[in-house]
Amino acid sequence: MSIAIITGASSGIGEEFAKQLKELSGIDAFWFVARRRERMEKIAETLGVEANIICADLTESEGIEAVRRELEEKKPEVAFLVNAAGFGKFGGFDEIDEGNVAKMIDLNDKALVLITHMVIPYMKKGGRIIELGSGSCFTPLPYFNVYAASKAFVLHYTKALNFELKKYGIRATCFCPGWVDTEFLPLSKSVPGATVPKEMKPLLKTQKVVRGCVKASIKGKTMYVTNWYTKLQHLLFKLVPDCLLSKAWLGMLTKNPPKEEE
Ligand SMILES: NC(=O)c1ccc[n+]([C@@H]2O[C@H](COP(=O)([O-])OP(=O)(O)OC[C@H]3O[C@@H](n4cnc5c(N)ncnc54)[C@H](OP(=O)(O)O)[C@@H]3O)[C@@H](O)[C@H]2O)c1
Repeated sequence: MSIAIITGASSGIGEEFAKQLKELSGIDAFWFVARRRERMEKIAETLGVEANIICADLTESEGIEAVRRELEEKKPEVAFLVNAAGFGKFGGFDEIDEGNVAKMIDLNDKALVLITHMVIPYMKKGGRIIELGSGSCFTPLPYFNVYAASKAFVLHYTKALNFELKKYGIRATCFCPGWVDTEFLPLSKSVPGATVPKEMKPLLKTQKVVRGCVKASIKGKTMYVTNWYTKLQHLLFKLVPDCLLSKAWLGMLTKNPPKEEE
């Protein structure tokens, strides 16, 4: 039995990967990993797929170990791994709390790397890994600093991993979407008093960007950048000094209203 493991399967991009991978031949069942069990159960029921629901907080070592235990017990053959669990918070170093800062790194980087490493031994030639980077991974972004840096880590990690995986016939793709219409965006701008973007446009649809990424992954591409705007950002990063891009970004920001007094 060949399976697809999707972290962050309870909403947004991860949920859309479940919909689209279901259509591929050769995937018999899914493992969905996130914190909201009911959401994952509902998605499995709606899609009519067999799913092993792993309810885990991947910022905690217990959550990571829950995935490891399942792998060791069930010894599946993994055709696809999608690491879509992730979040970001806008705000300066003095505007967002330490807890959120640490969790961004723990989820976007540490959990992604640990899960990738523990899954690879269960993949055969042809296995595919999709790591969620972002259009934010190309440029240092003040007031989205830790998130953007956490995604730059994913890009470098994935590119280097691909060299290591070559001898096994497995490929990893770093998925770099622009702003996508999911729960991510309102959550990212939710800190009262924080510095946030005035607007987040163009807004992409999960269906389109995930379709493109699945194709890129099957072809074995190292990176998939979604739309013209994000491709332009990628190009500018190669051509323009990053301090100029960071300054241009500062012009797109505003301040959230402060927290209301109780
Ligand atoms: N939307 C965008 O504009 C955008 C752009 C570029 C990159 N991305 C990246 O795409 C990925 C998916 O984001 P999305 O847009 O689909 O947002 P989303 O709808 O908020 O999905 C995030 C997923 O991560 C899971 N998650 C969050 N915290 C978790 C934790 N502590 N442990 C386990 N799972 C956790 C959530 O599930 P539970 O809450 O149930 O745990 C949810 O399934 C993220 O890595 C994000 O950085 C998004």
